[in-house]
Amino acid sequence: MNLADVYFDLKGDLEELERELSSAIATDHPVLNEASHHLLRAGGKRIRPVFVLLAGKFGNYSLERLKLVAAPLELIHMATLVHDDVIDDAETRRGRKTVRAEWDNRIAMYTGDYIFARSLKMIAHLPDPKIHRALSNVVVQVCEGEIEQIRDFYNWQQNLRNYLRRIKRKTALLIAVSCELGAMVSEAQPQDVRALRDFGYYVGMAFQVIDDILDFTGTEKQLGKPAGSDLRQGNITLPVLYLLAHADEATRQPIINYIQSEGAAHPAEEIVQLIKESEGITFAQSLADKYLNKGLHALYKLPHNEARDALEQLALFVGKRSY
Ligand code: IPE
Ligand code: IPE
Ligand code: MG
Ligand code: MG
Repeated sequence: MNLADVYFDLKGDLEELERELSSAIATDHPVLNEASHHLLRAGGKRIRPVFVLLAGKFGNYSLERLKLVAAPLELIHMATLVHDDVIDDAETRRGRKTVRAEWDNRIAMYTGDYIFARSLKMIAHLPDPKIHRALSNVVVQVCEGEIEQIRDFYNWQQNLRNYLRRIKRKTALLIAVSCELGAMVSEAQPQDVRALRDFGYYVGMAFQVIDDILDFTGTEKQLGKPAGSDLRQGNITLPVLYLLAHADEATRQPIINYIQSEGAAHPAEEIVQLIKESEGITFAQSLADKYLNKGLHALYKLPHNEARDALEQLALFVGKRSY
């Protein structure tokens, strides 16, 4: 089984989910309608819904119930992307202009809020308050992670713990909750719910570490946005942090100068090139692999079935992904 098989097996359910997403954001208001569909139509991996659906296979699988968490989770993710692109001044996302670039920052703020509110509306159909608590908690954490990221822009003295806490909040917990809630709404066994949550958390950590590597090593075509964006925005990620702590002076100094001068001291391309070919990347990849191994360890506590094989494939994809 490979990644294409995983998506192929879920094809019908994912198509249903697409319809659900599209009708969830439909509105008579032209700007909100266009801006939110603009991002939805640009695609994306839909990896959080895929986690929800696969986790659901460890209990009584019901698409009717699962889509009530899968769709809101994708909507929450989309809302954070619209807001994230405001924070990052990003021009492109998913190969298209960002909402803020096509319209403006103010419209992007409300489009993000609007998409988020639509997710709340769907969640309201779920009776279990545990689910509501888990979702609000994760959204609070995402806000904290993104705010910490702003606070730490151009802070070259932040440590690894800072970075790990930030990516846990902004990314890993949402993926953990996708696995957890998929299992929970399907009334899976409590120990399986826990194992799936742990799996999602570790895979989520690896997911963001790899995202941060790709920001240096990926091409604009693969990423749907220019490479080197994080550094240009002052977002100091793992490959850079590693070099700041471990590289020789000849490598460290230009990076420190670049960051301290907020990008004025060196052309960004030079610094991106330096990092791209450095052991910062190798180190980050090895940390991602460690997280993935922990994720697999949690996964192997679950009963062996096709969904487990599919989740294993997803974890392997996360480790090797180029988009
Ligand atoms: C991008 O997430 C933001 C991160 C948390 C790294 P994805 O890589 O899942 O984005 P899409 O949904 O596929 O566009
Ligand atoms: C996104 O992190 C995390 C969110 C919660 C939105 P990034 O800033 O790395 O995401 P991209 O690279 O813009 O997709
Ligand atoms: Mg960003
Ligand atoms: Mg990124």
